[in-house]
Amino acid sequence: MVSSYQGWNLTDAEREKYRQTSKASSQAKAKAMRGEGLTPVHEINHPNLNPEDLMPQLPKHGLRSLSLFSGGGGLDLGFERAGFDHIASYEVLEDAGKTLKQNRSNWTVFSGKSGDVRQVDWTIYRNQVDVVHGGPPCQPFSIAGRQQGKGDERDMFPEFVRAILEIRPSAFVAENVSALSSKKFNDYVFNEIQKPLLKQYNVLQITLYAPDFGIPQSRKRVFFVGFKDRNSFNKFVKPEPVYTWEHLVIKRHQTTSAYSPEQLNLFELDHPQSKPCLGVREALGLPDIGVDALAPTLRSGLTGTRHTTSILNSSSAQKLWRTLEIWPNGVAANRENARLFVTQNKHFRLSVADCAILQGFPESWQFSGAVYMALGQIGNAVPPPLGYQVACAIHQALKL
Ligand SMILES: C[S@@+](CC[C@H](N)C(=O)[O-])C[C@H]1O[C@@H](n2cnc3c(N)ncnc32)[C@H](O)[C@@H]1O
Repeated sequence: MVSSYQGWNLTDAEREKYRQTSKASSQAKAKAMRGEGLTPVHEINHPNLNPEDLMPQLPKHGLRSLSLFSGGGGLDLGFERAGFDHIASYEVLEDAGKTLKQNRSNWTVFSGKSGDVRQVDWTIYRNQVDVVHGGPPCQPFSIAGRQQGKGDERDMFPEFVRAILEIRPSAFVAENVSALSSKKFNDYVFNEIQKPLLKQYNVLQITLYAPDFGIPQSRKRVFFVGFKDRNSFNKFVKPEPVYTWEHLVIKRHQTTSAYSPEQLNLFELDHPQSKPCLGVREALGLPDIGVDALAPTLRSGLTGTRHTTSILNSSSAQKLWRTLEIWPNGVAANRENARLFVTQNKHFRLSVADCAILQGFPESWQFSGAVYMALGQIGNAVPPPLGYQVACAIHQALKL
C-alpha cells in the first residue's frame, strides 16, 4: 500500500494531520492560481514522446472487438490502432464512459448502470464479435491492496468468464496486475479462470513489461489469452521487446535517499537491434539534469476512500521521483496550472497530460472528470501501446 496512506487504520491524530496538510495545500494552490504564488521555476514542457508513434495505426482487417471493464480506454485504444472494429464498451463509472464518448463519438459505450457487466445478457453478442477483451478490477490481487482474491467483492473475473462462455468469441484477452501470476494466486487462476474455460478454449498466460515497448514507466502486466481454435493458439506469438531500457536503470543496490548524478551508475548496454526507450524526463521534454530513468509504476487509482491527486505507489518510488526532480503529488489539471503552482522543493510538478503520456496515452486522448478521477482512469489503464501489441499478436494468430 502507499506508505503515506492506509485509510482503514489511521489514528484520529493522523487523520487530523492529513486534513491540515490538505487544507494548507488547497490554500497555497488557490493563491498560486490567482498569480500570487512563488515565481514559476519551469516553463511549460513540450513532450518528446508521442505515444502514437509506439502504435502506428493499422488498416482495418474486419475483426470485431468487444470491451468489458473499459475504464478510460487503454485496451480499447490499443485494439482500435491495431485495426479492430470497436463493437461496444461496458464500464460502470460514468466519468470513464464520458472519456470514451468524448474521444470516440462513434463508439457504442454503456456506462453507469447500463455499463455494469453483472446485468448484461451476453448472448446478444454471439457471432457478433471476434475478440472480447477486458481488465477486471485489479484490487483483489494487487500488492497495493489486501490480496483477498475471490474473497474480495470487487473480484469480477467470474463475470468475465461468464461473458466468454455466453458469447463464445474466437479469442479473448484478460489483463491484470502481475501479482496475479504469483504463487499465491495459482489456485485462484486455475479454479476461477482456466478451469471454467479450458473445455472450450486454449489458454496461455504472458507477462509484458511496458518499457520493452517504448513506454517510459516500470510497469508489468499479465495477460490471459485464449483461443477457441487450436491452430490459432499455436500460431500466437508473444510480442517481442522492441525497445531497450537498461541504459536508464538506476543500479538496484543504490539505497541512499537522495542520489546525486555522480552516485548514479547508468548501464550502457549495446543493443544494436533495438531502439532506446526514453527516460521520464526526456519523454516529458524536461531539461537535462544528468539523470534520467523509467518512471516508477504509476499508482492504480481509485483504490482508497480518499480522492488522491498523487501517483505515488511506494516509498522507493518516492526516492526515485526525488532523484528525477519530479514531484509525484498534487498533480495539476493542466500544464499551465502545474507551472503556476510551484512545489516547495522546486521540483517539476506533473499535470494530468504528463501522467497520460507516461501511461502511453496520446496527447489528443482527453480524460473526463476531476483530477483524481482522470488519474484513476490513467493509473488503472493498460498502456495503449501494450494493448496494441497484444491486439496485433491476436490478429496475426486469427488471420487465415
Ligand atoms: C483495471 S480497470 C480497466 C482498465 C481498462 N482495461 C483500460 O485499459 O483502460 C477496471 C475497470 O473496471 C470497472 N468496473 C468495476 N466493476 C465493474 C462492473 N461491475 N461493471 C463494469 N465495469 C466495472 C472499474 O470502474 C474500472 O474502470
